[in-house]
Amino acid sequence: MNTLLIEQHFSEALKSVARREDIKAYIKETPLLYSLLSRAAGRYVAGDVLEDGLNAGTLLRNKGYNVSLEYIGENIRMQSDCEQAVKEFLKLIRACGETGAASRISLDLSHIGLSINPQLAYNNLILLAKEAVRHSLTILISMEEAAKTDLILSVYKQAIVHCSNLGITLQAHLYRTPQDLETLLPLGGCIRIVKGAYQESALDAMPRSKALNDQFSKLVARCIQAGCSISAATHDDALITEMRERGYFDISYFELEMLYGIRPELSSNLHAAGFPVRIYLTYGEEWYLYICHRIAEFPPNVYLALTDIIQSDTKPAALYA
Ligand code: FDA
Repeated sequence: MNTLLIEQHFSEALKSVARREDIKAYIKETPLLYSLLSRAAGRYVAGDVLEDGLNAGTLLRNKGYNVSLEYIGENIRMQSDCEQAVKEFLKLIRACGETGAASRISLDLSHIGLSINPQLAYNNLILLAKEAVRHSLTILISMEEAAKTDLILSVYKQAIVHCSNLGITLQAHLYRTPQDLETLLPLGGCIRIVKGAYQESALDAMPRSKALNDQFSKLVARCIQAGCSISAATHDDALITEMRERGYFDISYFELEMLYGIRPELSSNLHAAGFPVRIYLTYGEEWYLYICHRIAEFPPNVYLALTDIIQSDTKPAALYA
């Protein structure tokens, strides 16, 4: 078996493990394991509490980056956990309004009630969006597994009619996405295009490939052509070069968005060259699924994770020039 194939198997296995609630619970309940793995998480997550997110966000904003901030979590099934998450998001929105640590809040609808009742997620989204308006912030909804796409789009489409400071993420790897995009463009919200992080059936999604990059490029081009505010979220050199060559970075409603801790040297170079770069920053204790995805996307990250566990104290914000 060649290295690429081994990495592909590893990546698929890790994405399956990422969805295991029992493993996540075991890690949370085992202090030594939690503390060791949280060192590896420190490369991608600002820290466990709001202040960590605000501090890292402020540092990046002071260096001239735009920042999206997320209180990390998803698939909440208990009403009380959902209420706690909404309270935390309200605190986050107010704190960002006061400190300027981020201009955009990101969230998963399943963190604010989608897995309990879509109406609850809708009500909470409206509550948060209205608070965000008071602080001149936007809210960008993440996209979750394909099984939830219809529900997420439906909640978003109802909400954006009342709150124009909303936006949504679309995954280029899903075959359905070009059609979904056409239904969203007339609504006017910001669109974030990503490749897609979840493991999906081959019927629904294509793997990392030239075809996927072509679909990503076409979706971005369609948003640009429609005059839609667009966040092209990728770390892929080929796509970034192509977007630069097409002059997208000079368009006022276009921005490149990258995940905190991933290729900070690339963000720094683009930022130094005067291109708009937004960094997507997360904080919170629910980092398990998030770091599994970051390692699965780029299996050599497993070595970085081991190094972080041994050496500890990674401070990625310092890596951004
Ligand atoms: P790809 O995975 O093909 O990687 C291209 C190159 O980028 C790699 O060869 C490597 O050099 C580098 N790279 C990529 N990932 C890396 C990593 N983890 N570590 C180090 N290098 C790496 N997904 C989703 O399903 N729903 C969502 O809502 C979001 N939201 C979101 C917001 C933002 C701002 C970003 C940047 C990404 C997401 N994603 C997401 C994740 C997205 O779907 C995708 O999994 C990652 O962005 C990785 O894909 P790339 O486009 O970077 O390409």
